[in-house]
Amino acid sequence: MARIFSGIQPTGIAHLGNYLGAIQNWVKLQAENECIFCLVDLHAITVAQDPKALRAQTLQNAAILIACGIDPERQILFHQSAVHAHARLAWIFNCVARVGWLNRMTQFKDKAGKDREAVSTGLYVYPNLMAADIHAYHATLVPVGDDQRQHLELANDIAEKFNHDYGVDFFPRIEPLILAETARVMSLRDGLKKMSKSDASEQSRIQLTDDADTIALKIRRAKTDPEPLPDNIEALQPRPEAANLVGMYAAMTNQTSAAVLQQFAGSGFGPFKEKLAEVLIAHIAPITKAANDLLAEPVYLESILQAGARRAAAIANPIVDEAERIVGFLPRG
Ligand code: TYM
Repeated sequence: MARIFSGIQPTGIAHLGNYLGAIQNWVKLQAENECIFCLVDLHAITVAQDPKALRAQTLQNAAILIACGIDPERQILFHQSAVHAHARLAWIFNCVARVGWLNRMTQFKDKAGKDREAVSTGLYVYPNLMAADIHAYHATLVPVGDDQRQHLELANDIAEKFNHDYGVDFFPRIEPLILAETARVMSLRDGLKKMSKSDASEQSRIQLTDDADTIALKIRRAKTDPEPLPDNIEALQPRPEAANLVGMYAAMTNQTSAAVLQQFAGSGFGPFKEKLAEVLIAHIAPITKAANDLLAEPVYLESILQAGARRAAAIANPIVDEAERIVGFLPRG
């Protein structure tokens, strides 16, 4: 049994990319592991958030995770700011990580864009906080989508440098768990951009709270090309939008993209999109309903997050206390 940590930003509503790239895997992994799932609100405020909306989205995404099958009784579900160990260890890691390492982070470059001088310093040290999230629990497995791969490599670099500088063997190596087929779900409007909560257009993503009509409309409007579906994977490669929709259908029906092409070769996008919308609705409707039922009981949801935070703190506090002893903040016994 391994200890697993993963997180999601409550900056919007969880979408199909989050689900296929990460949440679906979290649900499977909880059968045989000790899992800690975190709504990372400290990360969320690295870009401006409306405070009321942030709090509401934290509860809403907690409800969605439970609706997707996360078991908050057996596993730990909480929000990051409730456990101070994350911020304490992140500060130590700010002093371990090198500026040159952070300068190489592609997500920072993407998010900061041309106006680097104007973004928050929090956005710059975001990966250090992410490393702290994982290492505060001595977690070793981290299920994520492909976009987090570089951050996890940095988390290993930070742990290695900490261990080396202080002459200890304290933080273990972590392994990313990335599902090959669905590691990168792309935008419905642009097959070269990943599906993202921060995309200005809601048409670019399927949210796990979308109703049947909304899903059907978004899929119908999804960008495609005029060619019919091919009969082999190679022919999909230069067609990112088509590849994305075929990948979604494959993931929702538990088969490979190649198998989906066998079924739909020669078909136009009209009938294919209808089938895709059908399988998406069949999968997402029960999640939406369960999440709405949970949201009708905010006191219960709050109590789950509070209990989760207490259990998370019980694991993280002794580990971060020890890290503070190692750096010389507390006497070493
Ligand atoms: P976030 O909130 O962007 O996404 C949550 C999870 O969903 C995955 N994901 C995707 N997978 C496939 N296709 C997509 N289009 C897609 N979009 C998102 C992400 O890879 C992620 O696994 N920095 C993290 C949150 C975090 C974290 C951590 C994760 C903070 N601390 C510690 C793991 C461990 C983030 O912004 O995820």
